[in-house]
Amino acid sequence: MFTCLNTCGGHGLPRVASRARVFAAPCEPVAVAVKMPSVSSEFRRFTGTPGYLTSESLEAAVNCALALERPLLIKGEPGTGKTLLAEALAASLELPLIHWPVKSTTRAQDGLYVYDTVQRLYDARFGDGDVKDIRRYIKLGPLGRAFAATADTAYDYAREPRGRRVLLIDEIDKADLEFPNDLLHELDRMRFTVGETGDEIVARERPVVVITSNNEKELPDAFLRRCVFHFIDFPDQELMKRIVRVHHPRLDDALVDQAVVKFYELRALPKLRKRPSTSELVDWISVLKTAGLGHERFVRELPFLGVLLKKEQDVELFGQAKKSGVWRS
Ligand SMILES: Nc1ncnc2c1ncn2[C@@H]1O[C@H](COP(=O)(O)OP(=O)(O)OP(=O)(O)O)[C@@H](O)[C@H]1O
Ligand SMILES: [Mg+2]
Repeated sequence: MFTCLNTCGGHGLPRVASRARVFAAPCEPVAVAVKMPSVSSEFRRFTGTPGYLTSESLEAAVNCALALERPLLIKGEPGTGKTLLAEALAASLELPLIHWPVKSTTRAQDGLYVYDTVQRLYDARFGDGDVKDIRRYIKLGPLGRAFAATADTAYDYAREPRGRRVLLIDEIDKADLEFPNDLLHELDRMRFTVGETGDEIVARERPVVVITSNNEKELPDAFLRRCVFHFIDFPDQELMKRIVRVHHPRLDDALVDQAVVKFYELRALPKLRKRPSTSELVDWISVLKTAGLGHERFVRELPFLGVLLKKEQDVELFGQAKKSGVWRS
């Protein structure tokens, strides 16, 4: 099997660590052989965790991003494990995770730091702290924390243990179009100045950056060029059964098999507006287990449909499919 990691090409990479150069070759913008017996164990730094199952192509993309020290851009249907991937990667690398959930109003600058003037005014009026010390009112954002954690600064703005971080920039497509480019500018620089104090914070090590997107907005080409990209395909039934097993290790095989088969049949219903995802299947099986329903019964009735279908049109569609015989129990 070949996967094209077409955005991890070696062209125009400004700061590739010397260790990474050794591995840059497999990431030229040509098809990358995923089943690569010759891949060194040094390259294969991420192979999933007991709680997070990966495919070979996902592992290849993650390891490529680690080798190049490039942000890893992950897309995929909701519930396909994008956010969980960053958590699993942090656990596997034994690095702390900083989660930056992006909102429509998020700006790259806020990710660096904010000056808490309101707190300062409040302290000036009611507090007992030293309001002349502006540094106390500089609050680092997720990006600022990730940089400060490896920076040598006289004042410890981050106030947390030192060392490299995994930075998850979650759902980047929620912010406006300026955000991705501003963000990459900051990531490239790996430094920032706190304007209010004049202190410069220079990261010594690049954080491991994972960026997720639900494809709500197109991302700029200049942004894409700097990332390693991977689209998490919806798992096939075999992988899905293994994922379910991670969450329900002691469940009867027959129940898992039947539930997975029914789940895929439901997803295959034509014209479904929102197809249920992995997380919904895991939840559905939890409910089936708790309710103690035998598989003959849930196969026939497909109970607790609200755990799987989240739009009234889809529930209606399912009702029609049952009536017309398109859906057979
Ligand atoms: N590869 C996997 N291994 C184990 N569990 C998984 C995997 N993929 C998905 N899951 C399950 O699906 C749930 C949802 O995963 P997650 O929140 O990471 O999805 P997401 O892609 O970030 O979704 P969204 O786009 O809605 O934020 C997880 O909590 C876990 O239960
Ligand atoms: Mg998510």
